[in-house]
Amino acid sequence: MINAALIMNLWQFPLMACALLLSTSPSTQAQTQNSFKPGQGWPDSNGVHINAHGGGILLYDNIYYWFGEHKIEGDAGNRAQVGVHCYSSSDLYNWKDEGIVLHVSDDANSEIVKDCIIERPKVIYNGTTGIFVMWFHLEFKGKGYNTARSGVAISDRATGPYQYLGSTRSNPRIWAENAPEPDNKNQPPPNTYVRDHANGQMSRDMALFVDDDGTAYHIYSSEDNRTLQIAQLTDDYTKHNGRYVRSLVNGSNEAPAIFKHNRKYYLITSGCTMWSPNAARSFVADNIMGEWKSLGNPCRGTDQQNKTTFESQGTYILPVSGKPGACIFMADRWQPKNPIDGSYIWLPIQWEGDKPVLKWLDEWSLDFFER
Ligand code: DGJ
Repeated sequence: MINAALIMNLWQFPLMACALLLSTSPSTQAQTQNSFKPGQGWPDSNGVHINAHGGGILLYDNIYYWFGEHKIEGDAGNRAQVGVHCYSSSDLYNWKDEGIVLHVSDDANSEIVKDCIIERPKVIYNGTTGIFVMWFHLEFKGKGYNTARSGVAISDRATGPYQYLGSTRSNPRIWAENAPEPDNKNQPPPNTYVRDHANGQMSRDMALFVDDDGTAYHIYSSEDNRTLQIAQLTDDYTKHNGRYVRSLVNGSNEAPAIFKHNRKYYLITSGCTMWSPNAARSFVADNIMGEWKSLGNPCRGTDQQNKTTFESQGTYILPVSGKPGACIFMADRWQPKNPIDGSYIWLPIQWEGDKPVLKWLDEWSLDFFER
């Protein structure tokens, strides 16, 4: 039987001690929520604004678990000072604080030492091993965004604690299935794909997706954010298995969020403008490994809303349990000057023929999907 301890031995990384305890001071007891209010404060069940940015959601045993970056005040909040925060909910409106499930380390030699960058954590559950597997974008402390690695952590429980296994560049010494070894690596001039062949492809903004057959995929901005790569994971979901493709080459996509609808795959991404919002893009494919076809900007609002994705950047697309076809686009309204103030934009995916589209709603509830 595969368990968390065995997977960790395979990675040959020592157990990370969890050193920090989150100190949130509950304010007043929160009122029960019965709607989504995009862009407004979103109190958890203690009345504290939810702190799970760049997040994603896992549905397990009829409970939703929201994992995201814990941000603090000020510029330092743009780097990881605390870790990955988790909340749980049975209705998507009311969220219980489950605390920090992956802590940054106080050990200067740790890859996830405090003040590194941990972004866009996503958790998937492996039904065969019974292990929850977290992937995230990792930048080593003090290196800006040059490290471009993926961190992996595992737990026997959705709510952790997650044990850090290590980090990796993607698929070192393996060419993409749709981009075999160039005949002459210097003609055309070497690009980052060729440059990074030996040490592994860059991986920054990322998503995970588990298909109906249980195969898991890692979708990430690579090649200096110019190209998305889509890589299959091993059966235990803790590594790449060597199969990957380059997608939307030179399209400069960040913030990939993926969902499946009527046997087609849909991606909503952003452009690359750091913390400033830009116009979202949408794509469709019959096969997750491509070809991906552009469906244009999915936003249907004012010019300003369309240019900025309602002042936000996507992070995840959540299929709603018990409502076939219902999906929620989750995005972040970043506040890089005071990151803890970042708010969440959740909007229902609507359809214009076979195109997923997004329209602003000041307030809405899951009844929207019954219309
Ligand atoms: C845009 C990315 O989508 C974010 O996750 C973050 O990496 C910022 N860039 C940093 O500027």
